[in-house]
Amino acid sequence: MRRILVTSALPNANGSIHLGHLFEHVQTDIWVRFQRLVGNECTYVCADDTHGTATMLKAEELGTTPEAMIESIRAEHASDLARFQISHDNYYSTHSPENEHYSRLIFERLEAGGDIFTRDVEQLYDPERALFLADRYVKGTCPRCGTDDQYGDNCEACGATYDATELGIPRSLLSDATPVLKKSVHYFFDLAKYHDFLTEWLSSGTVQSEVANKLDEWLSTGLKAWDISRDAPYFGFVIPGTQDKYFYVWMDAPIGYMASFRNYVDSDATFDEFWAHDATSEVHHFIGKDIVNFHALFWPSVLKGSGFRTPTRIHTHGFVTVDGTKMSKSRGTFINAATYLEHLDPDYLRYYFATKLAPTTDDVDVNLDDFVARVNSDLVGKIVNIGSRCAGFINKQFDNRLAETIYDDDLWNEVSGSAESIAQLFEAGEVGRAAREITRIADSVNQFIAEHEPWKRIKDPDRRDEVHGVCSLGINAFRSLIVYLKPIVPALAGRAEVFLGGDELKWEDAETPLLGETINRFEPLLTRLEKKAVDRLIEASVETDDVNTTEEEAADEDGPHISIDDFFKVDLRVARIVEASEVDGADKLIALKLDLGDETRQVFSGIKSSYSPDDLVGRLTVIVANLAPRKMRFGVSEGMILAAGDDDDIFLVSPESGATPGMRVT
Ligand code: MSP
Ligand code: ZN
Repeated sequence: MRRILVTSALPNANGSIHLGHLFEHVQTDIWVRFQRLVGNECTYVCADDTHGTATMLKAEELGTTPEAMIESIRAEHASDLARFQISHDNYYSTHSPENEHYSRLIFERLEAGGDIFTRDVEQLYDPERALFLADRYVKGTCPRCGTDDQYGDNCEACGATYDATELGIPRSLLSDATPVLKKSVHYFFDLAKYHDFLTEWLSSGTVQSEVANKLDEWLSTGLKAWDISRDAPYFGFVIPGTQDKYFYVWMDAPIGYMASFRNYVDSDATFDEFWAHDATSEVHHFIGKDIVNFHALFWPSVLKGSGFRTPTRIHTHGFVTVDGTKMSKSRGTFINAATYLEHLDPDYLRYYFATKLAPTTDDVDVNLDDFVARVNSDLVGKIVNIGSRCAGFINKQFDNRLAETIYDDDLWNEVSGSAESIAQLFEAGEVGRAAREITRIADSVNQFIAEHEPWKRIKDPDRRDEVHGVCSLGINAFRSLIVYLKPIVPALAGRAEVFLGGDELKWEDAETPLLGETINRFEPLLTRLEKKAVDRLIEASVETDDVNTTEEEAADEDGPHISIDDFFKVDLRVARIVEASEVDGADKLIALKLDLGDETRQVFSGIKSSYSPDDLVGRLTVIVANLAPRKMRFGVSEGMILAAGDDDDIFLVSPESGATPGMRVT
């Protein structure tokens, strides 16, 4: 039995899980489920990637703390992925004590090994916000072609790449201030020392050959030292021995794999069995091609330098496009997991992704018509259909009992004899080929059933045994096909297992038929995918705030719409007014103390023209609970209550009696 640890890249804690993430997690999960099905021990961990300036700024904008913000995003990500049947054993966070521990440990070991040095770096600094500006927070004119409004790393007009300090008339996107040049000490990891190690490591089957070739270019042009520190203020871990230097987010992110695993297992001993320099268990990372240098250059070198094992294999995939182009919010093809789940069964997408999977870094197109066709004609029409067309006879004519013998050895050998070759395809990430092989077998089975015409022969009392044999073989073939499909469509397979007698199927069951045993009544396992439902998903995914959206696209006769996702961003809660008082010096405001169930808030509300404080105490109302707090002359207002009104009157919005403080309003 192999012992395997598997990871998917850690999604950034700054947006929702979308089709691109799903492509990665579904393919990882198929591999993981396959490993478990054949009897290997396989642990699958992931986490949210939480650190960086972006997290800090976003939390500030939302009027919350980075900790609170990343925790709510983590919970959302974990739930979206779980609903897609992604079988993580742990979905953790990089902002964790374990991660801080290993990040410090690794840094200290690298430092002791002479791999860390410091150097002054001169960077653009926003004097108003008092922070160093990453390239995406500064714009100016391109030093090559003079086009205005270009980011700090490259020019969209002429394609030049440059240093942010070379921009003409730079301005900070955070404050509009003119940045100044400022020096500070940075910590570097001496990557160049690992040139020989990497050359060897990359050629030992750890990455796909196309990835090795790409990375060879880096190796041959020379490896530069890697800047692993960022100055305060930053959301992250402080570098040991410093006050105000933080690990760059990409330094601690992959260490998050270790941390999530350590959080999952119960002892250091188990941890060491996977991460000690001489560990014999396997570690597999699934990643997109955009982050391959972090995983196949920096990460193995950092591990090597700090005395840990290096990954067994990095599985790199390409990018998802929809109908041939980049996912687009304005076209509705930037599909979030949560939106998908409102409209379609996850197994449809899992199956479709599976048919497209190959161990290459080529981009993968989700063609919406093809999606509907593949699911309906192959999964529902060919595979599930075998079960439904044979079950009726076994259920009604043969008292749910399967025949004692195999009716046709040739067909059974074809079905069961494919277990080994299909297993090899799964192992190698050739899931698309496995799916085609499964469909091809289903074709043979359907043809066999058609040739034996059970629906006709059942009318002839002398041919009952024949019908029994044919349909029993059909059910056994269906069972083997379900075993092969189980890593791909686990929910469908789970329902099929109930029909087939209730036992949890293992890979070896594909080769051992059920003879003389009883099955259950067939219930429909999967309905056809309606094109209309896909259309509705696309409609619901259209977002109007995308940069690609033109004004005509954004507005129709009724004015611009917001998506349901936009609406759900507003956290509306029932609140009880527990105190109300006039505000000295403000003739429109009433100060309210609101009970939200598990907390109290202070809110200043401009409703004094219609209400006196005494009318309000005890009443229920609705608060926008995640509105950024607003500093007012009289104190901080922590939210806003809802009221209807015009020039003359104001009417407080209240739920019907029975609602309780803290309830979500949707
Ligand atoms: N936080 C880093 C990963 C750190 S791993 C130690 C990151 N996050 S991400 O949210 O931007 O992307 C997570 C994964 O999703 C990456 O592997 C990325 O390649 C993948 N994808 C994001 N968009 C994608 C598509 N459109 N298509 C396929 N995968 C893509 O990178
Ligand atoms: Zn330019």
